[in-house]
Amino acid sequence: MTSAVSYELVDEIGVITVDNPPVNALSHAVRQGLHDALRAAQQDASKAILIICAGRTFIAGADITEFGKPPQEPHLPDLCSEIENASKPVVAALHGTALGGGFEVALSCHYRCALATAKVGLPEVKLGLLPGAGGTQRTPRLAGVRAALDLITSGNPIDAAKAASLGLVDHLVEGDLREAAMAWCGELVAKNAPRRKTSELRVETISDGVLAEYRSKLAKRARGQIAPFKIVDCVEAAMTQPFPEGMATERKKFIECMQSPQSAAMRHMFFAERKSARIRGLSKDTPQRDIGKVGVIGAGTMGSGIAMNFANAGMDVVLLEVSDEALSNGLQIIARNYVGGIKRGKFTEAEALERRERIAGTTEYSSLADADLVVEAVFENLGLKQDIFAELDGVCKKGAILATNTSYQDVNRIAAATTRPEDVIGLHFFSPAHIMKLLEVVRADKTADDVLATCMALAKKIGKTPVVSGVCYGFIGNRMLSHYGREAQLCVIEGATPEAVDTAMEQWGMAMGPLAVFDLAGLDVGYKARQGLPEDQRGDPRASRVADTLVEMGRCGQKTSAGFYRYDADTRKRTSDPEVQALIEREAEALGVKRRDIDSSEIVDRLIFALVNEGMKIIDEGIAQRPGDIDVVYVYGYGFPAFRGGPMHYGDAVGLDQVLARVNEFRQRFGADNWSPAPLLEKLVADGTNLTDWAKANCS
Ligand code: 3HC
Ligand code: NAI
Repeated sequence: MTSAVSYELVDEIGVITVDNPPVNALSHAVRQGLHDALRAAQQDASKAILIICAGRTFIAGADITEFGKPPQEPHLPDLCSEIENASKPVVAALHGTALGGGFEVALSCHYRCALATAKVGLPEVKLGLLPGAGGTQRTPRLAGVRAALDLITSGNPIDAAKAASLGLVDHLVEGDLREAAMAWCGELVAKNAPRRKTSELRVETISDGVLAEYRSKLAKRARGQIAPFKIVDCVEAAMTQPFPEGMATERKKFIECMQSPQSAAMRHMFFAERKSARIRGLSKDTPQRDIGKVGVIGAGTMGSGIAMNFANAGMDVVLLEVSDEALSNGLQIIARNYVGGIKRGKFTEAEALERRERIAGTTEYSSLADADLVVEAVFENLGLKQDIFAELDGVCKKGAILATNTSYQDVNRIAAATTRPEDVIGLHFFSPAHIMKLLEVVRADKTADDVLATCMALAKKIGKTPVVSGVCYGFIGNRMLSHYGREAQLCVIEGATPEAVDTAMEQWGMAMGPLAVFDLAGLDVGYKARQGLPEDQRGDPRASRVADTLVEMGRCGQKTSAGFYRYDADTRKRTSDPEVQALIEREAEALGVKRRDIDSSEIVDRLIFALVNEGMKIIDEGIAQRPGDIDVVYVYGYGFPAFRGGPMHYGDAVGLDQVLARVNEFRQRFGADNWSPAPLLEKLVADGTNLTDWAKANCS
């Protein structure tokens, strides 16, 4: 045995307990411990063997921190086969989240019981992998091919009741898991229950047509990813090959996935997301303020979605608007969003009603007097925001957190409009605010530690992934986006069509091309932001010329059914518009730009390396705490493909020397105004190092 696994014989049951906090991952010590305990149990007087876990969960998977290191015996597939071939019935008792390799251990047992609160799943695909210890072979044998494909290609866990209905769990228990599992083991022993080997079950066969259809659906749902297709291959092998050969197929494809850049990128994202919750210079025991009631100012696109987040998490919300009419519009947006949520199966009608009723409307600031947090989401205008914060300063109780959802404005200047800048913070939600996972938490110069700690914890409570940003124009995400968007629009004026730019980026993996995104967000938003800036800060005039003209023509994007594209009013399907093409050509001529063919690799490199280069500056200036935080911002807020690991990981994967060479080439071709290499990029290339190693040494 090892310190992570203990064994004891209790009333004829050999009880193996895994205790490897926090999530009982299958580290080498756990695998070795399980191997030793199994051997002991088969040599003593026990009549059945129970595998159970201490702490908050059954085994939640292989130990991801061991990936990439030389594998050590016993290997997990061998351990699973030892379990299945044990001389006595083996029972798994599941609680918490039995995931990945943990669930594969359970599938190798002869019987499975679970607490009703338990969840099971095979989330390997989210790490760019496939189940590598029999999951693709045993799941279809127990649950059927279709259910196996859904479970393994989605990676989403299912609850114990669903697992029981699929035959993946045999027995649901209540109360104390150990007591209930021991009692069930006793029953199995009493009735001389046989050892049921999952590997010996027959797999139902389904037609090639069904598999082909599945693959073509995946081509849309998992565009660009390799693991989902290898999963289908493995499940097909379960149907067509005997178990040992199916296992060999799974092993081969598992190793291919493990060695792929996609899996490296997705594993990077797993840890980057968890690390982004840690704040430099803030101890874990920083006290937090209680948040029970939240005020939201402005019930437009953002405010209405922001209000829903807090109501959904059980908090009371007061939504403040300038007029009854504006308030009623906002409450209607909210009502519509809740109807949409019911339709999508997010919650029941009763739950939606309960949540909606938590949101009260007002036009009086006095209603915010007892709010613990107020989030301002009015028009993007510094003076207006400062007036509102001065008003809040007068009306809100002491200790209330005052947050702004501004996209670009200086949070320090907004804070300075109050007598309590330490209570002021930026909470930058993304549209649609009740759906998008990212929350940029903007730490202003005087933001108090407990305000920051409270907002990070609150973000988790409302289901967001928070990333801390310092104050700068556009914070992390939008500051980088301005460079990406500039290059997209320059490609258009220089010769590419909007579709060529969007298609190149979508084929590369972006959820949506940049020009389609601008149309979705509203071209007027960027237009107004530019108008609010002094002329010398509006950026390259060639870049925004087409967008500005479109807005002036009343083409603001999807909301007016026309922008860079034309949109079908019902389906929102985009089509190219010859009128836009003619406009682009006219504007190019007026600007003296000679149009040329631009290939997709130039489009991708210009847009993505513009992100990487600006990201480097953001890290250097300390606006982002670490490169991984930027990756989280881009994957969760901007549709950057997780399988490329975010822009900073991607830069490292390509090789920083390659990135710098291309940036320098673009500087020569397009000028230093848009293409000045980040000093950090130059330094890392000169030092012959990469961002990952630099971050290990320089970022906590
Ligand atoms: N290996 C190593 N560390 C892990 C881990 C794993 N499989 N799963 C979680 N951890 C670590 C996290 O990094 C985190 O560490 P930190 O505190 O130092 O940041 C800590 O455990 C707690 O994790 P969370 O903050 O995520 O805790 P939650 O309670 O929110 O979530 C969880 C728990 C649902 C288990 C979630 O951590 C999770 O989804 N983990 C990954 C599960 C997974 O992907 N399993 C499959 C692994 S691949 C595999 O099994 C291959 C096999 O088929 C051969
Ligand atoms: P919007 O125009 O849809 O809504 C603004 C709302 O504020 C309007 O309903 C208006 O009546 C109300 N309002 C104006 N002055 C007010 C006042 N004095 N008191 C109370 N309410 C007032 O704007 P949107 O898009 O919701 O943007 C709001 C803020 O969120 C801006 O700062 C914007 O930069 C930011 N933001 C916008 C995103 C987007 O995609 N639309 C994304 C992230 C942030």
